[in-house]
Amino acid sequence: MIHVNEPLLDGNEQTYVAEAISSGWISHAGKFLKRFEQDWAAYCGQQHGIAVSNGTAALQVAARALNLQQGDEVIMPTFTIISCALAIVECGATPVLVDADPHTWCMDVSQLEAKITLRTKAIMVVHIYGHPVEMQPVLELAKKYQLAIIEDAAEAHGAQCLVNDASGGKAWQRCGSFGTLSTFSFYANKIVTTGEGGMVLTSDDALAARSRELANMCFQSERRFYHTELSGNFRFTNLQAALGVAQIERIETILQRKRWLSKAYTQRLARLKGIQLPVEKPWARSVFWMYGLVLDESTGLDAATFAKELYALGIETRPFFLGMHEQPVFHQRSLFVGEHYPVAERIAKQGLYLPSGLAITAMQVEAVCAAVSQVLVKHAEVAA
Ligand SMILES: Cc1ncc(COP(=O)(O)O)c(C=O)c1O
Repeated sequence: MIHVNEPLLDGNEQTYVAEAISSGWISHAGKFLKRFEQDWAAYCGQQHGIAVSNGTAALQVAARALNLQQGDEVIMPTFTIISCALAIVECGATPVLVDADPHTWCMDVSQLEAKITLRTKAIMVVHIYGHPVEMQPVLELAKKYQLAIIEDAAEAHGAQCLVNDASGGKAWQRCGSFGTLSTFSFYANKIVTTGEGGMVLTSDDALAARSRELANMCFQSERRFYHTELSGNFRFTNLQAALGVAQIERIETILQRKRWLSKAYTQRLARLKGIQLPVEKPWARSVFWMYGLVLDESTGLDAATFAKELYALGIETRPFFLGMHEQPVFHQRSLFVGEHYPVAERIAKQGLYLPSGLAITAMQVEAVCAAVSQVLVKHAEVAA
């Protein structure tokens, strides 16, 4: 079986984890934790990093740090993971959805302005499968309407977006640098992984301090065990941070490998009819976190059938996200009832991603592409 993700921990991971163990600093303090927060914030172009237990927690902390309340609205993509909407709903605020762009699969930013109301407090952008959201229009709208940006860069470590710079020119800026608060996941399938893990980045001192409080049960610095607010325990450990530090050291090599993989897939799959492959817009430097493809309806196949047939050939895949507006859990809360987002609905039904882990070999890529071709050809013959 070729798995959808196998991590490659071939740098200083073992040395640093062993060092963390022998130092005795295995919980929420220690030199690796400090270094991981500082190095990741610096790499992404923000002042502060607050490491947390996972990417969902990072979103929960970010949403609460913005003090979102009942009646507030946050505009977000429907095509994303549940964690994004969860963070908003938990604060009592209302997610307002926009559809996906049919090419990048990120939120269609041309639909944003029409969704802004007097209640809008923030825009949540989510870079999908390694390709950045088009940030220039988002930055302009956030400025025009004085909205905060929550930037979920869980899937876009190291990706870049071309935006206007202060001198009237254009400059490449890393994902994670755009948010009032930006969030990351370091789950095992992420580009930088700590097994489980997440981080909130910000350049606002007050938001950083607030995020740190929220990540740690709202302990107060003046009086220990005295609480005026409730929050969960979202702490990260020095042991996990040791893994992260080792990967930041070699992130350019990791990103090169992702780029090699996407190129290898595209070279072999571009000639096949009936599938849409990942794009890279001129204003984007994608990191191709996961290599997605969307089946044309003309193939007579949907992603679930395609996945099953690939699995029978030894290839594991993952389905694309199911839009937030199609989630029963939100309908039960009277959210998004009767709403339709045609692009998200189509790609949710027709999209999946192929094995994309860092440990994949060139021979495995060949095998995946041969299987994709075999299933497509079989169905084309059936249809003919
Ligand atoms: C875009 C996005 N945001 C948030 C998360 C949640 O991260 P975690 O699984 O670390 O909680 C994920 C997880 O894959 C994700 O893809």
